[in-house]
Parts: sequence; C-alpha cells; structure tokens
Amino acid sequence: MVLIVFSSRGGATKDIALKIQEGLRTSGIKADVEDVKNKPDPSAYSTVILGAGIRAGSITGAMKRYWQRNEEELTQRALLLYVSSMARGETGKEYVDSNFSPRLLAHARFAGSCGGRIRLEELSGFARFILKKVASITENQESLDEKSIETIIQTAQSAED
Ligand SMILES: Cc1cc2nc3c(=O)[nH]c(=O)nc-3n(C[C@H](O)[C@H](O)[C@H](O)COP(=O)(O)O)c2cc1C
Repeated sequence: MVLIVFSSRGGATKDIALKIQEGLRTSGIKADVEDVKNKPDPSAYSTVILGAGIRAGSITGAMKRYWQRNEEELTQRALLLYVSSMARGETGKEYVDSNFSPRLLAHARFAGSCGGRIRLEELSGFARFILKKVASITENQESLDEKSIETIIQTAQSAED
C-alpha cells in the first residue's frame, strides 16, 4: 500500500499528490494522501511518497521535521521524493538534493521536481508581495511537469508489483 505525504502552501503539491493517487488508482493500487500536518505513520505502508512545495529554495519546516523523525522507517520502504517549484531541470533537482538527507536521497527511487504553479488568489498578501518584489511575478503561472508526475506513478507501480 502507498502513502503520499504532502506539504503545500499554495495547493500545487497537494494537487500533484492527488494526481499521483488517481494515476495509481486506475491501475488498481490504493494510495492514501495525507497532509504532513497530520504526521501520518509510514510503518503500515510498503511505498511512501513525500512531496513538498518550495519557497526561497526550501521545503516547509513541517516536512523537514517529518522526514527527520521518520528517516529510519523511510529507508526501509520504497521511497519517492518530489518538490513542487517553478524551477525545471538542474535547479529543480538541486532543490530536492538540498532539502532531504543524502541517506534518503541515496535510497529514493525517484527524487526530482514536478514543476509548479502560482495562483495568486490562493496566496497570502505577504507571499504575493514577496513574489512581486523578488521575482516580479504579478500574474498566475502554470508549469506542472506532467512527465515527472507520470514517472512517479510508474515508479510507485513497479515498487508495488
Ligand atoms: C513566496 C514564494 C516563494 C517562492 N520561491 C521559489 C523559489 O525559490 N524557487 C522556485 O523555483 N519557486 C519558488 N516559488 C514557486 C513555488 O515553488 C511554486 O508555486 C510551487 O508550486 C508551490 O507549491 P505549493 O503550492 O504546494 O506550496 C515560490 C512561491 C512563493 C509564493
């Protein structure tokens, strides 16, 4: 059984988690989707997928604490790690590499970025201000990486076979 744990401030990482869940469901694999805030127990699952949104290069403190607390358990299961960010390619990969431990990264069957999206109406006034000031972003942006999402689904499928 698959557990997908997400940490999402703007909703993109959560939507990616739901897409993965749906992709697995169509091939008969049940996946539970949980907010990291609920601190789900990974021990009952054979495959665990962790997903976190990026702000200023970092995942949330809640996701960091979660993988730190469960690191031992996570290395005993099939593990996939993704981040949601506007960066593609190398920078996206760097975000994963700098936000999880070398031990988890070495164990993970997937570690990469699934792209991201910005929906200004779903963000706080402060987040909108930062985006405008630092990145000159004043309009919504959609840049989900469907190919990476598909790779996660396929990798989780083969882990569960
Ligand atoms: C305040 C703020 C800071 C951000 N910083 C970065 C960043 O450093 N690099 C990046 O690629 N994307 C950055 N983004 C874009 C987010 O990573 C992207 O919108 C992602 O999909 C957010 O995931 P979430 O909606 O699950 O929180 C930032 C977005 C916000 C609102």
